[in-house]
Amino acid sequence: MPTQPFFPKRYTAVAQIFHWVIAALIVTQFALAWTAEDLPLGIHKLALYARHKSFGMTILMLAVLRLLWRLKNPPPPLPDGMTPVERLLARATHIAFYVLLFIMPLTGWMMSSAKNYSVSWFGLFTWPNLIGKNEHAFDVLRTTHDILSDVLFAIALLHILAALKHHFWNKDDVLVRMLPFTKSEKRT
Ligand code: HEM
Ligand code: HEM
Repeated sequence: MPTQPFFPKRYTAVAQIFHWVIAALIVTQFALAWTAEDLPLGIHKLALYARHKSFGMTILMLAVLRLLWRLKNPPPPLPDGMTPVERLLARATHIAFYVLLFIMPLTGWMMSSAKNYSVSWFGLFTWPNLIGKNEHAFDVLRTTHDILSDVLFAIALLHILAALKHHFWNKDDVLVRMLPFTKSEKRT
């Protein structure tokens, strides 16, 4: 007898922890980079970028764990009332997020390597350089990191608006099932 795959009704605690910890780190990344950008070159600016790099590498490590975990743990199915276009958008957004969770840190890491600037992890250890010193590669990677951060920002905005639409307009449990300390029964 073939076994039916098991689909949970809510995101599990592990999925919720991954989601909210990484979301908080992404917000931190933007706050650090945007603050650092406006500062004159000096110790304060460098300290903020060092923190940006450490948190960014933390996101990369968490992204690896999250993806491995996600491949073994299917998410709850989307509500029946969603149109095919909405389903496609939801899937595309989630896939784009997973891709960006890898590409953002990797372009940042490679950018630093291309300048031979060290990437430390909160001063505990130093990551090896991914590529050799190369000014042209640095320019390309810096532009890519910058453009992709705008893409990530736009997708996050779309994602948040969609979550709020589900909650307040559709009145389904899509937002609630990603929130810790909640129950889904009443809204479905
Ligand atoms: C998901 C993780 C990351 C996010 C969301 C992120 C986001 C950003 C953003 C929004 C900026 C400002 C872009 C601009 O407007 O010019 C930036 C700049 C920068 N990021 Fe990241 N970053 C991440 C990971 C990393 C990592 C892991 C490193 C290095 C190991 C890194 C190194 C840098 C550097 C050096 C800059 C300054 C580039 C410049 O001089 O213009 N980032 N990042
Ligand atoms: C920028 C930070 C964020 C990132 C990178 C992110 C990423 C993701 C990803 C990858 C998923 C799919 C999870 C999976 O099925 O494996 C997801 C689901 C979800 N996210 Fe976010 N998210 C972010 C911020 C937020 C915020 C601020 C909200 C709330 C307003 C939110 C609400 C949700 C909800 C409700 C789901 C579940 C959607 C469903 O049931 O299909 N996310 N998020």
